[in-house]
Parts: sequence; C-alpha cells; structure tokens
Amino acid sequence: MQFLMDKYPRVIDLLPKAERRLPHFASEYLFSGTGYDNAIIHNQSILNNIFLTPRYLKGNVKPNLKTNILGCKFNVPFGIAPVGLTSLIWPGAEKYLSKMSVKNKLPYSLSTVACASIEEVSKYLDDQGWFQLYPPENKEIRDDLLKRAKNNGYKVLIVTADIPASSRRERLRLAGVSVPPKTNLRTLYHAAICPAWSIGTLINGMPAFGTMDQYSNGNWHGNEKSKAGFAGSQMKRYLDWDYLQEVKDIWKGPVVLKGLMHEDDAVLASKIVDCVYLSNHGGRQLDMAPSPLQTLPSIRKKLGPDFPIIIDSGFHSGQDICKALMLGADFVMTGRPFFIGLAALGEIGAQHVHDIFKDELLNIMEQICAEDISSLRKQKISLTENFYLNEINYN
Ligand SMILES: Cc1cc2nc3c(=O)[nH]c(=O)nc-3n(C[C@H](O)[C@H](O)[C@H](O)COP(=O)(O)O)c2cc1C
Repeated sequence: MQFLMDKYPRVIDLLPKAERRLPHFASEYLFSGTGYDNAIIHNQSILNNIFLTPRYLKGNVKPNLKTNILGCKFNVPFGIAPVGLTSLIWPGAEKYLSKMSVKNKLPYSLSTVACASIEEVSKYLDDQGWFQLYPPENKEIRDDLLKRAKNNGYKVLIVTADIPASSRRERLRLAGVSVPPKTNLRTLYHAAICPAWSIGTLINGMPAFGTMDQYSNGNWHGNEKSKAGFAGSQMKRYLDWDYLQEVKDIWKGPVVLKGLMHEDDAVLASKIVDCVYLSNHGGRQLDMAPSPLQTLPSIRKKLGPDFPIIIDSGFHSGQDICKALMLGADFVMTGRPFFIGLAALGEIGAQHVHDIFKDELLNIMEQICAEDISSLRKQKISLTENFYLNEINYN
C-alpha cells in the first residue's frame, strides 16, 4: 500500500513502532543474539562492505524476480526462515505468515518448536509449506514428526544442524525470559503495557509448543517432564551424517541442511541432501561465527554453479538479499524482519515487509540493468578489505 510505503519505506523504519508494541521479554527473545552480540553486529558489517559496479546502456530492462528452487516455483527469491515460539513474539504469527506466503508465493518454514502445530498451520499453507526439523533424540518421535509433516502437505524438509548445544543467550536471562513464559509480576507488567500483544495473546492462547507438546506424555518417552524441558531435551546433540541419511531416506522429498558455514561440511552435505542452507542462526548460537556471506563464495565454488544454496542471517533489506544472490546464493531466507512487520502493524505488517523487499529488489535490478535473478551472479562486485575473502570466481 502506497501510504505504508511512504511512511515505512524500509524495515528499519518499522522498528521503533515494533519495539514499542512488544513486551520486553518478547522483544529480547526476537532481537537478542548470544554472548556479546558480536555475530549479529558482524553479519551487518559484512553486508555493509559489499559494493557493486553497475553496467549501463542495456536498453529497456524489465526485471523479473521469479525463482525456482527444489522443484518449487516462487514469485520472489526470498522466504520466511523457521522461527520457534513464533506466537510468543506476535500472537497468531504462524497463521498470518503462512497466509501471506501463499498469497505472494514465497516459502514459509514452520519450526518444530513453533507455537501452532503442523496440522493447524497446514490449513493456511495450501500444500506449499516447508517444515523445519530439530532432530529429536527419540527416533519414534522423529519419524512421527516426518509423517505428520508429509501427510499435511509440507513440501520441503529443513534439518537444522547448528544447535549441538543450547547457547547461553545472556540477554534472555537478563530479561527473565523463560520458555514457556512464566506468569510472574514482571512478565504481567511488561505484557500489560503492550495491549495489542496482550489482547492478541488472550485471543490466540498462551504460547506453547503446538507440534511437540503431544510427545511430552508418558506414552512417548516413559516419564513426565515439563513440556518445555521435554521439547528442549529432544533438540540437541543428536545429529550426525548417519542420522541425516536416515532422515533423507524417510522423507522421500527435498531435504535442506540448515546452519552450515564450513565448506567441508557443505561438500559432505551435498552428497546426502538436496540443498545446503548457510546460516549462523541469526547470530544466536556461536558468537564468534563468521557471517555465512563470507563463506558463501568458496562454498559456491566447491559445490559448482548449480547445487542449490540458501542463505540467511542478517539479510534485512532488498539490498542485502541482492548481495547474497550476487555472491552465489540461489535463495535468501529472513527471520526477524517479518516479525518486526507483524509487531509494528499486525497482520498487514508481514505483507508490508514483503512489499518493501520486493520494491527494493526491483529498484536495484532496474538500477543495474539486471533482467532476472540469475543475472545477479554475473555482476561486478567489489569487497572492502574487511570482507576477508578477496577472490571470487565461480566459473
Ligand atoms: C527468535 C528466533 C527463533 C528462531 N528459532 C529457530 C528455530 O526454531 N529453528 C531454526 O532452524 N532456526 C531458528 N531461528 C533462526 C532462523 O531460522 C534464522 O536462521 C535467523 O533468524 C536468520 O537471521 P535473521 O533473523 O537476521 O534474518 C530463530 C531465529 C530467531 C530470531
């Protein structure tokens, strides 16, 4: 909508309003990294150090954003990354994001630990959702999750690799964030001063683990644990290449391995899965991780020009997305921006973030006379010294 574009032309223009409308615990959950937030800061600074020298005189170029990946056709080269406890950030987020993704034809990835379940969200996804698996220790649970996702029309499976341990998330400790949120005086106060969030939560229900909660009873694991503790206990340390191969064999469809940064891991993964997804988890796991953008060029070189590569972590504008595509990614996922949109403007905010990205991307492509997404890889890119890789050569 034009008036929204004039008022909030960039995602950062939505930020102050989003921060005002989010309770402190939800805002810290969404925005914090880990350790000293170095990885988050670094993700951004790497993006700021990439430049493009345009070529002109190509006549009338009409840019086209359509993209194919993993057998899916999308209208744009970006999608929504999996985010856990989604409705803790903004009540009903899973529903709003999946509806928006179907309307605009882009992928929505539902996290294993989202608040709405595989089944609930599938009602809005029109068989075009992607499901993200945190590899459970219990293989019966794993197989059941895969069956539920498959039976409910999810097309692509994302397996997340980058949580071998929980990260310390110091800012969450300081903000008193617990999962699920504890109802104490502090959280009640923070919720009460954010009426839109509170009313939404009353209507939507208290945030829970919609998909995982059913496994926390004795039938599945033999003893009672708290639901949050159980979901957490299932999610770490159990992934290795054999486990991944089993998942690939069971899923019988496209599998993406998320959270890689090292080129040797990418090469090993490419022998098992259909796509590698470079990510440092938005700076939430290992505070000294590089930006995946720094490792993208060498991974692209190792995997060749055609192996599908997705990337995320810090791509919060059309310009950022464009830089990832120029450096060799096929597709870009983004986490926090869509939640900034929802928090600032409600349901329409997710559409607005999509519109911003699309508008920014189209404008850049017109500026540089690029006709389609694949032509972005052929642009002349310069990197400052801060981008420690100084050689880029795909061919
Ligand atoms: C609040 C939050 C929760 C997340 N939960 C998950 C999750 O459940 N599964 C997963 O694979 N990644 C999760 N991620 C990581 C995102 O999928 C993605 O890698 C990250 O958000 C990308 O960085 P960006 O937010 O800067 O775009 C989460 C990220 C955030 C910010």
